[in-house]
Amino acid sequence: MNTLSDIDALRAALDAPRRQGQRIALVPTMGNLHAGHLALVEAARQRADLVVATIFVNPMQFGPGEDLDAYPRTLADDQAGLARAGCDLLFTPDTASLYPRGLETHTRIRVPEVSEGLCGGSRPGHFDGVATVVSILFHLVQPDVACFGEKDYQQLAVIRRLVNDLHLPIEIVGVPIVRADDGLALSSRNGYLSAAQRAQAPGLYRTLCELRDALLAGEPRAAAIDAALLRLAERGFSPDYLEVRAPDLSPLRSDSRQAVILAAAQLGPARLIDNLTLTLPQ
Ligand code: PAF
Repeated sequence: MNTLSDIDALRAALDAPRRQGQRIALVPTMGNLHAGHLALVEAARQRADLVVATIFVNPMQFGPGEDLDAYPRTLADDQAGLARAGCDLLFTPDTASLYPRGLETHTRIRVPEVSEGLCGGSRPGHFDGVATVVSILFHLVQPDVACFGEKDYQQLAVIRRLVNDLHLPIEIVGVPIVRADDGLALSSRNGYLSAAQRAQAPGLYRTLCELRDALLAGEPRAAAIDAALLRLAERGFSPDYLEVRAPDLSPLRSDSRQAVILAAAQLGPARLIDNLTLTLPQ
């Protein structure tokens, strides 16, 4: 696997494969890779001749006081994992090359509606930063297909809308959440948890499963959500949001059957997110 950090070198490396008609897949990441990321690379491998991964801790998507500086940087381990998973090319740009005039004056991409509320409500500007950097990476790599994890459900919805609105000829693939044996969704931020907090952390998924079961049993939605919020607090979380929406994140209509439960909650130093899709009873 080749690692490049220079934009011109990346373009040069992709030129011949593109001219030969090879199908190119992109897996954008911020590094500190775990099995969830490697599942993205495997999904990309199945859909393309050439797999390009990127590692860039994107300052534009972090708010003031968030964990930009603390975000773990583990390049050597990441390179080894990516190579094993079948990645062909790793792009690791620095901030100055992606945002040469600085963040403040850089062109920003805003995806309205779907980026509002949920994580977008608690992290103002976060999805503008995601949409901007993903657009830059799409333009640099010009992939045929790009893979994103379903754990970041709203991010995936934002990127689908972005690709649709900008008429980009890129297939967006959502890859199912990879969970630890105890149900916790894998996340780089799980590394912030102490041993005791790590033992509590599966309580988020457990609560989502209990809420799903209550909804499947026909309990009224508002009461079931209130009970789940209480359970989260009893399990040591400070809930940020817990909502049930339609799969495209629009408000759930009374006749909607497909739904997604989405939650974010703080546990000690880590803000954890998770989601669960379900088919509601008629
Ligand atoms: O999901 C992530 O790791 C990031 O938000 C992404 C998509 C790589 C953009 O920086």
